[in-house]
Amino acid sequence: APVPEESLSLAGRTVLISAGGTREELDPVRFLGNWSTGRQGYAFARAAVARGAVVTLVAANTELPDPAGAKVVRVVSARDMDAAMLAEAPGADVIVMTAAVADFRPVVRAEAKIKKDGALPPPIELTENPDILAGLSRRRAERGPAGQVIVGFAAETDPSLDAARSKLARKGCDLLVLNRVGDGEGFGAADNEWVVLAADGGATPVPRRSKDALAEVVLSLAAARLS
Ligand code: CTP
Ligand code: CA
Repeated sequence: APVPEESLSLAGRTVLISAGGTREELDPVRFLGNWSTGRQGYAFARAAVARGAVVTLVAANTELPDPAGAKVVRVVSARDMDAAMLAEAPGADVIVMTAAVADFRPVVRAEAKIKKDGALPPPIELTENPDILAGLSRRRAERGPAGQVIVGFAAETDPSLDAARSKLARKGCDLLVLNRVGDGEGFGAADNEWVVLAADGGATPVPRRSKDALAEVVLSLAAARLS
């Protein structure tokens, strides 16, 4: 499908966006985390506000100024984000999961700071976090005929679209924004770096673009799916 050229309006629509990277605490001063800055999610928030949407941004550990006109909900861990997204989701017309969610968290969060005592450190035992995106899709299905467009993100090294296609199916979302990463082997031109896959089989290649421009393309694809 061609990328819609015009900025499809989101006036009167509600858009829910996650951004940043979750942190999973080990003790009161330490965590497992990732390097996500949240910039892509903030770009979505600005773009959605500009199209007239009511915007909620669930932000994990970002250091960016609040986007003007958006409600910002701050969270730390994947479980915090899961609760915030599930609470906001029922009223949302469009949901965009840009956040880097930790797949695992420590089984135990120590109450006091972990000390070294001369012996080898104990291994950190991990358990799996909830899959927020899959949960949002499941909840939507339970509510019955949709009227809600759910968008996920993925970075894959597989030069074919197979891994992303199966991820899209597993997550149950409508659009998966795929970033093809790797050393370029088999990837062809940088033009193929981004592809928006649709659950109905569509694939829209997006030439290398800024985070703002990518947000515009994806919002147009999402808005076109709203009845
Ligand atoms: N995601 C989520 N909850 C998780 C993990 C991921 O909602 N616990 C979301 C991300 O925000 C992203 C999408 O799912 O929109 C894909 O994330 P990714 O890490 O690529 O998928 P995973 O299912 O975690 O698979 P992988 O083993 O490849 O990391
Ligand atoms: Ca993951």
